[in-house]
Amino acid sequence: MFILNGPNLNMLGIREPEIYGTETLEDIKNWLGIQSGVDFEWFQSNSEGDLIDWIQKAQIEKADIVINPGAFTHYSYGLHDALASHQSAGMVSIECHLSNPASRESFRQNSVISPAVTGTIAGFGKNVYLHAIQEIKSRRGN
Ligand code: DQA
Repeated sequence: MFILNGPNLNMLGIREPEIYGTETLEDIKNWLGIQSGVDFEWFQSNSEGDLIDWIQKAQIEKADIVINPGAFTHYSYGLHDALASHQSAGMVSIECHLSNPASRESFRQNSVISPAVTGTIAGFGKNVYLHAIQEIKSRRGN
């Protein structure tokens, strides 16, 4: 399983803590490792192309994906297309968001990613990653 994080998520801890909390991305990664008991590959990038490379790698390696695409959620057709290809190859992908974009600014209310993933979990802070991992685990029968 790959867990991918998009732009500005490397700034968690100091980025708008009233929205995203005070834990760093590293804190969340470590917490998830303990809580989930799953061995995952973890990646963060501020670059669209790097994230597309990782989605392609997941398809080739037949890995499921949990992805928080950050602001790319709202406009990246490149990520959409990579995820559509990954999904059509029979893999599971779950879009997640720490905050609930549907209750925020209007530009956040559309996800161009959602049509290309299995499902979306948003608004529950770091628990969104854990719920996503648990969903993938149960779909894969473990
Ligand atoms: C986010 C929500 C996005 O709208 C925003 O651009 C982010 C973080 C979230 O986790 O709540 O960078 O994906």
